[in-house]
Order: sequence, then structure tokens, then C-alpha cells
Amino acid sequence: MKIGYEDPDVKYLDEVLEIVVRAYREERKDVPCLPVEDNLRDKLRQHLEKLLEGGSGVMITGEDGLRGFMVGIKNRELFGKYDGIYCPIYGHGALGNNIKGLYGELYGQAAHKWVEEGSITHAVALFAHDVDLIDTWFWLGFGLRCVDSIKEVSPAGIDIPTTIRKALKVDLSVLADLHRQHNLYYRKSPTFMPNQDEDPVLDLRNWLKKEDRHIWIAYKHDDLIGYVRIQPTAESFVSEYREVMNITAAYVKDDYRNSGVARNLLETVECWLKDNGYTLCGVDFESINPLGSAFWNRNFTPYSFTLVRRVDDRILSLKTS
Ligand SMILES: CC(C)(COP(=O)(O)OP(=O)(O)OC[C@H]1O[C@@H](n2cnc3c(N)ncnc32)[C@H](O)[C@@H]1OP(=O)(O)O)[C@@H](O)C(=O)NCCC(=O)NCCS
Repeated sequence: MKIGYEDPDVKYLDEVLEIVVRAYREERKDVPCLPVEDNLRDKLRQHLEKLLEGGSGVMITGEDGLRGFMVGIKNRELFGKYDGIYCPIYGHGALGNNIKGLYGELYGQAAHKWVEEGSITHAVALFAHDVDLIDTWFWLGFGLRCVDSIKEVSPAGIDIPTTIRKALKVDLSVLADLHRQHNLYYRKSPTFMPNQDEDPVLDLRNWLKKEDRHIWIAYKHDDLIGYVRIQPTAESFVSEYREVMNITAAYVKDDYRNSGVARNLLETVECWLKDNGYTLCGVDFESINPLGSAFWNRNFTPYSFTLVRRVDDRILSLKTS
């Protein structure tokens, strides 16, 4: 069969959408609580137009149309000092029964461009139950970094201690120290995320200014020991569904961990979500943070993984073609 290689192009939008929707439908078989795909095409259309117009990558065509595509967006200093490429969950896909072979071809072509453009770190999001595709990326040198997970809102019915309550604006200055500790936590081993120092009060105040954002705090005597916060959207397109609210931070002081504080905070959030008509709760986290991974994996189901490969940057000083 005659195979063609093309730059990303919106003329393939409908074929790309078909492939992505099919992959989402497959993931829903393993994670049935994921939102139904009703308006998924409309939701993705805009994202995809932007990606196919401004992204970097390759599309492989055969005599009968699109066979596969891999397109990412350049990111400055992605997980390091070098630039990188982020290929979203709707940024790659293939048809036929030789997916592994086609992905090898797609990545070979796309990565050639990316490295030529100076993008050394390659990140790709994919559905969490597509084991063959995960294996394909693993063999291409990729490892897990970030996880998107979801759960149905279903409070367990445990008694919530009176030491947990919704935070008010006046609580922000006290909460700031916990927020700062949370930020610093990610710098520690084995997570090693070099996040920047920030003014925690200002950061929380700015965060709370946007619509429909909520924080709950946990006390022990007069000591603030933990908090959790939620907001309407997060990183993944699933988080944008109306019925989904998203946890975007949770922290418990280390002296108080493993005694159910986070479990009680989560129960509080779920009760509030239920009372306010939300049916799903999402979260995204770094798999390289063992405490967060353990907690979220116990309570939520992953539906998307982001895998990362860092190319040896010494290749930049050598000719590759
Ligand atoms: C993740 C985090 C918030 C969890 O908080 P926590 O209060 O320790 O969580 P819980 O106590 O509710 O649950 C943790 C463990 O305690 C156990 N536990 C719960 N209630 C308990 C109780 N009453 N007595 C004893 N153990 C209990 C849980 O079963 C769980 O154990 P397991 O991991 O062996 O299954 C906390 O570890 C933390 O702040 N980590 C650093 C920041 C972070 O990673 N945040 C998540 C960001 S994405």
C-alpha cells in the first residue's frame, strides 16, 4: 500500500475525531463512570483545530485516508532546562491491526522533527487502560509521570469530625503556611519538582477569586493540619464536563498523616458535591509522588496517563540526518 507522510492539517479533523472518540469509548468500557460522549466531538473540535493548525508532528495516510497521526505542542523548559513537546490524549492515534508498528513509524517521524526543533523532552497523554499502547510507548523509552483519575460522587457515610469546615476568606492567612509547606513538599525526594517560591497568601487569594472554587480545612485543637480544594476545571478535557468537579490540592501535615484526615476531607468534599448536584469528582497527580499516588489510587480510578521520555541532549550537537 502507498503510504504518505504529511504535516498536521485540519483537513483531517473529522478522521482524527473518529479515532479519538473510538479510543474514549474503549476507555469507558473500563471506567464506566466517565462522562457519556454526547458532546465530546464538539468539545474536542476546538482543541483539535488549534493543535492541527499550530502543532508539530506527522500524519500518515494510505490509499483510503488517514492511517495515523502524532501531533504535539511545544512547551518551554518542559521538565528541565530544555524545551519539550506535549502530545495530548487527542494528539495521536492509529488505525488497523499493526498499531505498534505504526506508532513506531509515527514517533520516528515526529520525534525527528521535535528534536530538530530543539524539543528534547517528549510527553504524551494516553488512556490508562490501553495496555497495548502503554506497552508500545514503554518500548519506545517512555515512563509514567502524571495521572488523571476519577470517581463517582458517593460519600461513604462516615461521621465527619467537627474539626473540618469550609474555609472563609479570613482563614487564608493561616492557611498560607500550610499551602507553602505543600508547595515545598514537591521539591523533596523522590518527586524533585523545582517549583518556584511564591507568596502563598496572594496565590490563594488569586485562586479563590475565580468562580466556584472551594477549600475545606481540618483542625487539631488550634492547629491547622490539612486542607483540600476543588475547582470546576483542571488539566484534562474530561474535567471540563459540567458534572465533574476537580480536586486540585490536598495536603496533611506529616505528623498527622495516616490517621484518616485526608479521608475525612474527601468525605466532606463528596457530601458537598452530592448536595450541589455534581456526580463525578476528578483529580490529577504526579505518579512520582508516592504519598499522593497511594491516596488517590485507593479512592479514584485512573483514566489517563502522561508518559515522558527525555532524549539525550548531547544529540543536539551532532548531525542526525
Ligand atoms: C496524600 C495525603 C494528603 C494523604 O493524607 P492522610 O491524611 O495521610 O490520608 P489518610 O490518613 O486519610 O489515608 C492514608 C492512610 O492512612 C490509613 N488510615 C486512614 N484512616 C486511618 C485511621 N483512622 N487510622 C489508621 N490509619 C488510617 C489509610 O488506610 C491509608 O493507609 P494505606 O495507604 O496503607 O491504605 C498526605 O499523605 C499528604 O499530605 N501528602 C503530601 C502531599 C500530597 O501528596 N498531596 C496529594 C497531592 S496530589
